[in-house]
Amino acid sequence: MNWLRGLKAKILIDEPISGHTTLRVGPKARLWVEPESFSDLSRLLKKVKEKNRDYLVIGGGSKLLVKRRAVALAIHLNSQVFRQCRIEEDELTAGAGISLPKLLKIAHDNGLGGLEFLSGIPASLGGSIMLNAGVSWPKRIEIGAFVVELKVIDKSGVSRTLNKGELEFSYRHSNLSSYVIVSARLKLFKRRKSDIKLKMKEFLEYRRRTQETGYPSAGCAFKNPEGHSSGRLIDLCGLKGRRVGDAAISSKHANFIVNTGNASSSDILALMDLARKEVKNKFGIVLEPEIQIVR
Ligand code: EPU
Repeated sequence: MNWLRGLKAKILIDEPISGHTTLRVGPKARLWVEPESFSDLSRLLKKVKEKNRDYLVIGGGSKLLVKRRAVALAIHLNSQVFRQCRIEEDELTAGAGISLPKLLKIAHDNGLGGLEFLSGIPASLGGSIMLNAGVSWPKRIEIGAFVVELKVIDKSGVSRTLNKGELEFSYRHSNLSSYVIVSARLKLFKRRKSDIKLKMKEFLEYRRRTQETGYPSAGCAFKNPEGHSSGRLIDLCGLKGRRVGDAAISSKHANFIVNTGNASSSDILALMDLARKEVKNKFGIVLEPEIQIVR
């Protein structure tokens, strides 16, 4: 811990990661660090590099499954400065640690639309940009399309501003994996609050109607292969309701693996392996996880 001296941060020892993931599974983080400011984050990353330490940045924990027995260092952008939000005309600038539900509420309250499709996603803004969160109903739309500028810190602790031309987004993918996202500027649309509310309601209703919302999950476990729905493929293999321990393939949407009680990371991974194997055998298609798996 001595190496962290001088750093302004909330530091927790042996913090259970399960409390910070939507699947409610995970080991302990020996050190859980929430830097107080951008410069503290930058200083922390510099120290981590010097010491050659391994670390994991945890945002909303909505697409995260940690298999290893412990995480040495988890970094979480939760202090006020990482959750701030500012609006100028039709642009919204927010810290990477703000949650999407909070961000959507602020956008709504200020008559800014565009992001309604993110309703019901429990991610942080940074995580959702990293993975280019999106939907495919009623048409494909992703958060990357709204990002005009990002403030990031690279793995050596050096801050950079990336403009739109430097950002690459594709289906559930960005070119940002070597950075920690600190804040984002998004270009939205002026829209009537009542229209924003209605759209948010439509997206939430679609989600509640078609997806699993009753148990902890990480959303869709696998990406959709081009031209297919992973949920449909897993369903056609007859795997709905299949269980390993307290983990289960949802009976409502087969691409959702749920924690019905005390599931472990291994239980969830066993079901993911089973789904991959069966889909490969039956259709010759290899499913690619959408959940970040830390082994
Ligand atoms: N289907 C089945 N069985 C199932 C699940 C789905 O037959 O168990 C069928 C549905 O009836 C439908 C088709 O498969 O005809 C597509 O299903 P759905 O509309 O639920 O969409 P999806 O392709 O499964 C994608 C995204 C979701 C996003 C929805 C809605 C991926 C991997 N999934 O799901 O994203 O919310 O569209 O826009 O891209 C996520 O990324 O975590 C996620 C949930």
